[in-house]
Amino acid sequence: MMSLLEKNRPLRWLGKQLFNREDPAAFFDPLLAQVDPMLVRQYVPAKVIEITDETADTRTFILKPAARWAGFSAGQHVNTCIEIDGTRYNRTFSLSCSPAQWKLHGTVSLTIKRLPGGKVTNWMHDNLQPGAVLGLGEAFGEFQLPANPEPLLYIAGGSGITPILSQLETLASEDWRAPVTLLYFVRTQADVIAAERLYAIQKRWPAFNLQVLATEEGETPQYLNDQHLEQVPGVNARRCYLCGPKGLMDLATDLLHKRGIADERIHCTFFAAATAALATDDLGGVVQFARSDLSVSSEGDAALLDIAEAAKLSPQYGCRMGICHQCSCRKTSGTVVNRVTGKVSGPGEESIQLCVSIPQGPVTLDL
Ligand code: FES
Repeated sequence: MMSLLEKNRPLRWLGKQLFNREDPAAFFDPLLAQVDPMLVRQYVPAKVIEITDETADTRTFILKPAARWAGFSAGQHVNTCIEIDGTRYNRTFSLSCSPAQWKLHGTVSLTIKRLPGGKVTNWMHDNLQPGAVLGLGEAFGEFQLPANPEPLLYIAGGSGITPILSQLETLASEDWRAPVTLLYFVRTQADVIAAERLYAIQKRWPAFNLQVLATEEGETPQYLNDQHLEQVPGVNARRCYLCGPKGLMDLATDLLHKRGIADERIHCTFFAAATAALATDDLGGVVQFARSDLSVSSEGDAALLDIAEAAKLSPQYGCRMGICHQCSCRKTSGTVVNRVTGKVSGPGEESIQLCVSIPQGPVTLDL
């Protein structure tokens, strides 16, 4: 006769399969997603509730994240997880609203420009509709406001306005008692992102001076130069915030340095990966993925994240720009070069960011 213990064996086996897992969410989420995508646990689900056009190629997506999302500071970024044809893509975007919007209404805004050839941004523009659900990570980033009022200068280019919008709305709502100037460079007036919001801030907040500079309108193209800075009252004593294309940021940093403004008072954030000038001759090497028992050769300036993905591994990542640290991984030996800073690592064990680390000779990873 079968004992009770033996009778229950299949049930115990099933229980073990279901619950004795390192990551139960990975098992249950696909099931929960079928019932209601807002129930998944692996990431914070966020429902699209409204979409508005900002310019011909830029839209604002207003999302309602699940209440467990931890919130953000003005100027921070967030990783998103979007499923396209059964494949999940992670992308980093700036939050373009003030934290007050999240606190008061439980919603956040992402203002996203189509990138030429960009799989995810174009898909979002063409397919994302109210009611769709995407995943949000925790907010991150050091592009943050000072604790106490002081004069500020913002220099933005194109869609680099998005984290700045978040900060301006925050400052306006707090009635920041110090002058704030924004020099906003766009190709034409039609390319001003969130024009209504910017002009509304200017109207209700007297300390704010908005200057939109259309580089391709008028007889001569107008790029940032020292004259623009000279016209900002007390410019040399201002704390400066820059966001835009690398060329504009480099130029702005250079002009600010020439005025004696120290790096500690210049805050930059990128919306595309910055790169250092690297000599590619001695880059590349054999990469040993120790846990996967896999070894592959690489050449040139391919980053370890790309090398791992080409080898069909799936390391975690977020921004792919060296900002979020989601791709951090233990290097057990070998030397890598950081593509953003140009710095060369030591040869020993340390944590590195796969998305910006290029092997310089043989490298072994705990992956
Ligand atoms: S993916 Fe964000 S730092 Fe590497």
